[in-house]
Amino acid sequence: MDFQSCVNIKKEWDIVGARQLGRDISRKIGFGTVDQARIATAISELARNIYLYAGTGKVCFEAVEDMNKKGISIVAMDEGPGIQDISQVMEDGFTTSGGLGAGLPGVKRLMDDFDIVSETGKGTEIRVVKWLR
Ligand SMILES: Nc1ncnc2c1ncn2[C@@H]1O[C@H](COP(=O)(O)OP(=O)(O)OP(=O)(O)O)[C@@H](O)[C@H]1O
Ligand SMILES: [Mg+2]
Repeated sequence: MDFQSCVNIKKEWDIVGARQLGRDISRKIGFGTVDQARIATAISELARNIYLYAGTGKVCFEAVEDMNKKGISIVAMDEGPGIQDISQVMEDGFTTSGGLGAGLPGVKRLMDDFDIVSETGKGTEIRVVKWLR
C-alpha cells in the first residue's frame, strides 16, 4: 500500500537482509517486539527455502490494510522446481533435504494468513500476512 520493497535472495547472507528489512517494516507498522520476532522468523524460513530449493528468488514486503485492520504481507517467490504435493510439505517433519521439516508448518503457525501457489517446473509463490491487533 504505502510501500512495497523486495529483497533478492541469491546468497546465504541475503536471508539475513530479508529478515532485517522485514523486522524494520513490521516495527514501523506498529508490531510489538514479540510479533516482530515471529515475522522475522517466518521471513527467514521462507528465504532459506528459496536459497536451498530454488537457488534464487525474492521476498517482497508490503504494508496492507483491510477494512480497519493493518498488517504486513510477505510474498516469497521463486522460479525453482516447484512443490509437487503441497499438503505433504505442510506436514510437520516432511523434508527432502534432511532438515527438520518444520519450516513451512512453523511459518503457518507464526502468521495469520498463508497461501501457496506452486507449479512443478515453474516455481513457488508463498504469501503470508500478519494482522496487527
Ligand atoms: N521454495 C521451494 N521450492 C521448492 N520446494 C520447496 C520450497 N520450499 C519448501 N520446499 C519443499 O518443502 C519441504 C518442506 O519445507 P520446510 O521448510 O517445511 O522443511 P525443510 O526446509 O525441509 O526443513 P527446515 O525448514 O525445518 O530446516 C522441503 O524439504 C522442500 O522439499
Ligand atoms: Mg525450510
